[in-house]
Amino acid sequence: MSPTLTDPEEIRAAFEVEMASRPGKLQKHVNRVERGASRLAAIHELDREVCTAAAAGHDLFRHCSDAELLALSRHYRVTIGRDEEDAPIILHGPLASAYSRDVLGVDHEIILDAIAFHTTAHPEFSAEALAVFLADKIDPRKVQRDPGLAAVAAAAEQDLHAAAALFLERRLSVQLNSGQTLHPLAVASRNAFLRRLT
Ligand SMILES: [Fe+2]
Ligand SMILES: [Fe+2]
Repeated sequence: MSPTLTDPEEIRAAFEVEMASRPGKLQKHVNRVERGASRLAAIHELDREVCTAAAAGHDLFRHCSDAELLALSRHYRVTIGRDEEDAPIILHGPLASAYSRDVLGVDHEIILDAIAFHTTAHPEFSAEALAVFLADKIDPRKVQRDPGLAAVAAAAEQDLHAAAALFLERRLSVQLNSGQTLHPLAVASRNAFLRRLT
């Protein structure tokens, strides 16, 4: 049994130990997200240590196959609904959060929620979780591949809710136009963030 971790710096250190065994490409992405989250924390006067700790742990299981994600999620008792069966990749956030809590002993609600919902976002997201969500989506490599994300990156400097709504609208539109299902949390988050702006 791991000791209970409540200090963001200790939590980040535990995540870094875990990440050392993950693929190099994933480690580099996570490092960029940590830097991006730290930058957004500075701009929006958020808790930088909380943001970087959540960023450090957000993709602990991003390298896993669908079959591995489903098996590990069952093992760690992560809820698997129809939306997760349709797209098991969504499980990598909730799984990382459950593993962090149960195996690494992480006891920090904001960090655990930021990790769990970093794919769909969550209507009740803290500002720190929003910063991590956006830093992940506007990883400079992703903006290079999809220049449309530059508008999200620019918006993130001004208003985290506006930027997150913009990102979700883009992604939901793509999913809608290509006949894919929409994750209800992504829709609820977009609505919640939009209401914050009016
Ligand atoms: Fe992820
Ligand atoms: Fe990521």
